Amino acid sequence: MPQELYEVLHRRRDVRREFTGAPVQDAVLRRVLAAAHAAPSVGLTQPWDFLLVRDEALRRDFQAHVAGEREVFDATLDPAQAEVFARISVEGVLQSSLGVVVTYDPTRGSPAVLGRHAIADAGLYSTCLAVQNLWLAATAEGWGVGWVSFYREPFLRELLGIPEHVRPVAWLCVGPVAALQDTPDLERHGWRTRRPLADALHTDRWGTPADLG
Ligand SMILES: Cc1cc2nc3c(=O)[nH]c(=O)nc-3n(C[C@H](O)[C@H](O)[C@H](O)COP(=O)(O)O)c2cc1C
Repeated sequence: MPQELYEVLHRRRDVRREFTGAPVQDAVLRRVLAAAHAAPSVGLTQPWDFLLVRDEALRRDFQAHVAGEREVFDATLDPAQAEVFARISVEGVLQSSLGVVVTYDPTRGSPAVLGRHAIADAGLYSTCLAVQNLWLAATAEGWGVGWVSFYREPFLRELLGIPEHVRPVAWLCVGPVAALQDTPDLERHGWRTRRPLADALHTDRWGTPADLG
């Protein structure tokens, strides 16, 4: 039923505070990762890997690094923005059951990657599609996902022993949740509101609106 897919798509949220921390079942985790691994990829390179971070000490080290990067960002804000930002949580690294680091390896299938000769970023796009598949499958399973990008790539590479040529694209906080919010956290806290679809639509030339009735 397409309706079920749309329901999951619209129910999906980025999660920080709602994780229960309950253990994840391997069978569910396998389904979620298989969904991620089924994503389309440029030249069928499947340039992603999934690093499951269960170790408490590693997660604590990462969380401390994220806290430092939060301060770096905070220092760039004007006072009004900083006041709103203070109410917003940017990660659930220790509250979630599991960290899943999704990486991108640009050398996989290279040099003749079919479809990447003109757009180098197509490999990164592919990796992000794997993340989205994971996110939707986790939502369908009653889990939540929170994408953390408050980190420096060299730090995470060093922490987890990721090879030099491989990019850590996302740290995903993953696991069962008590509930999913109806509204994105950033909107609930007054940071930003979502754009109407009509504002993102153009016909033929940039800036010409599309009238879909
Ligand atoms: C590439 C990417 C990076 C993100 N990084 C963070 C992050 O570091 N911390 C965070 O709290 N949310 C992060 N998010 C989540 C967004 O804030 C969230 O998707 C957005 O506010 C919309 O909310 P929703 O996902 O619940 O619809 C990230 C999302 C994406 C796609």
